[in-house]
Amino acid sequence: MAVFPQVRLRRLRRTEALRALVRENRVAVGDLIFPMFIVEGKGVKEEITSMPGIFRHSPDRLPPEIEEVARLKIPAVLLFGIPKNKDETGSSAYHPEGVVQQAIRVIKRSVPELIVITDVCLCEYTSHGHCGIVTDGQVNNDQTLPLLAKMSLSHIEAGADIVAPSDMMDGRVKIIREALDEKGFQHIPILSYAAKYSSAFYGPFREAAESAPQFGDRRGYQMDPPNVREALQEVEQDIAEGADIIMVKPALAYLDVIRQVRNAFNYPLAAYNVSGEYAMVKAAVQRGWLDERRVVTETLTAIKRAGADIILTYHAKEFAQWLQDE
Ligand code: PBG
Repeated sequence: MAVFPQVRLRRLRRTEALRALVRENRVAVGDLIFPMFIVEGKGVKEEITSMPGIFRHSPDRLPPEIEEVARLKIPAVLLFGIPKNKDETGSSAYHPEGVVQQAIRVIKRSVPELIVITDVCLCEYTSHGHCGIVTDGQVNNDQTLPLLAKMSLSHIEAGADIVAPSDMMDGRVKIIREALDEKGFQHIPILSYAAKYSSAFYGPFREAAESAPQFGDRRGYQMDPPNVREALQEVEQDIAEGADIIMVKPALAYLDVIRQVRNAFNYPLAAYNVSGEYAMVKAAVQRGWLDERRVVTETLTAIKRAGADIILTYHAKEFAQWLQDE
């Protein structure tokens, strides 16, 4: 093996052009998905306190937002709905005039080629804030499944391109696949939140989506953070049930999980750079403690280096703008 002084690793670090030539990983704008919060009502655009720069929009306020996403060449958005009425069974989640269904139609009218992905989960729609039907104080897996299928179908009928179940019920990918196929939607992909951990990093999201559980927590259905073999089982099951794209969530404290999933499966892999990860960066940047552009670029690149193909991130618009400015 050649060694110093023949080998000098610094030779390829001397200028930006040399560094760029040997760079192993890059984030492209085409890798990004921008999550958005849609609130029922008219004329609403309100900033989320713990997520500076991220807003809740009512469907009628979406067109300028969506045109900006398109101008930045971000290929896809992920929609979360915040309904006026919540009930025990989350019925506004699968109502044809539900807030997400309205938003899908508005988006498809303004930028038809933008990929519209919808989050499929009942937590924003239930009065108790859990991701499924509650019976005897427990989230009932099998009674929740048909509602998730109904919700998925209703999003696709409104014009969505991909459904993304995030509820963590066992068997949901299978039942959603069957429901879509039965109605002639064989061509619609499922992006499954396959390895979704019960994480404290979702804190700001629950404020944004008004979806905090009213009793207990989500540890009975989301994954236990110390586990990684179990993540491989989750992914294996979801692929067997028909998932087209798999996801690991959150991203930063779980880069090892992303790498292991990447090594074990030949499926497109997404990682969700979640609300708490965004909030930490924003808070430090606001205090002048971190350089935003460098920290965000380093973070998103790390998620790719770990093995993700696709990154869901609230930084998508800023990052896309920086790429355009280069
Ligand atoms: C809905 C859902 C959550 C997130 C995405 N889908 C919250 C949760 O599970 O409590 C979190 C996203 C984020 O923190 O950015 N179940």
